[in-house]
Amino acid sequence: MKVDVSTNKAEMFLSSDIVDEKIRKAAILQKKLYQDKDSNRVFGWTHVKSAAVQLDEIKVKAAEVRRKAEVFVIAGVGGSNQAARAMIEALQGEDGPRVIYLGNTLSPHYINKMMEQLKGKSVYINVIAKNFETLEPGSHFRILRNYMEKIYTKDDMSERVILTGTYGSRMEEIAKENGYTFFSFPEAIGGRYSAFSPVGLFPIAVAGLDIDKYLKGVVSAEDYCMKHTDNNPALKYAAIRNSLYEKNYNIELLTAFEPQFTYFTKWWVQLFGESEGKNLMGIFPTAAIYSEDLHSMGQYMQDGRRNLIETFIKVKNTNSSVIVNEDKKFRDGFDYLENMDFNTINKVAERATIEAHTKGGVPCIEFEVEEISEETFGAFYYIFMLACALSGLLMGVNPFDQEGVEEYKRSMFIGLGKN
Ligand code: PA5
Repeated sequence: MKVDVSTNKAEMFLSSDIVDEKIRKAAILQKKLYQDKDSNRVFGWTHVKSAAVQLDEIKVKAAEVRRKAEVFVIAGVGGSNQAARAMIEALQGEDGPRVIYLGNTLSPHYINKMMEQLKGKSVYINVIAKNFETLEPGSHFRILRNYMEKIYTKDDMSERVILTGTYGSRMEEIAKENGYTFFSFPEAIGGRYSAFSPVGLFPIAVAGLDIDKYLKGVVSAEDYCMKHTDNNPALKYAAIRNSLYEKNYNIELLTAFEPQFTYFTKWWVQLFGESEGKNLMGIFPTAAIYSEDLHSMGQYMQDGRRNLIETFIKVKNTNSSVIVNEDKKFRDGFDYLENMDFNTINKVAERATIEAHTKGGVPCIEFEVEEISEETFGAFYYIFMLACALSGLLMGVNPFDQEGVEEYKRSMFIGLGKN
């Protein structure tokens, strides 16, 4: 398995009996997740095979889009775009269509800016929505159709529009009525747990990422977590953060010293925020990218209120190197860095930060991977999704619903005159 977790700098703040007891409880919950009948149809993602469906069709259509599209629009929001975006923003190469994101905002400025990118380009779109009532993707699909129908014939449109939704939904009917490609959003999987279903798989394949390698990472994490209680990163992480929560550590900051993880942290914030924040409970998830954010959040992390947990994503090998050159003449004060690789500088800063924050009273959890790759993302998604489900269950909330977000929608729909 590709992901190690080290919790000793968090366990320092806890008694080992409490942690052991939590791990035992989490292990029982994990067993139930794997074995239960799933009568509420929410654990579809725990068994990768039932989530990662339509692989051959996905590969064929993605290859076609890569050949023919100059711009590929992903129209989805929340769990319907975050996982794919996190990987694309981290790993996409220079070739293939430019990926742009719609269906994730109500800002006319942003919509106009994105629509400008389509002009004169060969456009393909993937609209992703489990519940085809979500305002942002539904309304942007309308704008996109209106734009595309002025340029493309009906046959062209049927090639260029790809819909991802649940079987039996209006999305599926629209796909059938218009000859659009339709991919499944498995019914037994909620949005934020959909990373390795077609919701995530198709867009990342269009971006040129290797979905076999990705699924290899997911499956290795699934195998490992199913078979192991000892050193199981999901169990350990869920148990530690839950033990800390009971000692009033109620904010968790996820951070990495690699900006490639920026959108990954957004995915993680959504996963934990929507899963745990309910019934007046939950650890408030937030994120930072270091070293940049050490110059904003570093002060608070070191010296602010002591209710914080900090979780680090560490990478052993970045496959990049920048050596600081010699410069004798300028006398800029940076000679101490001469001939040093930024890999070393970044690692020293990472170690120093963890050390200083632990000393300052912040429990630190460290995840470490060999490199940033499709496999790594696959393993991370599986481990964090499992940990999040277990953590929510340990806390006594339902990690699979999101009733709370309906509240603002009710008022908004009244304001918009929706029947
Ligand atoms: O995790 C979730 O369920 C949510 O964040 C949804 O993914 C988000 O609200 C988008 O929903 P839909 O795919 O139905 O448009």
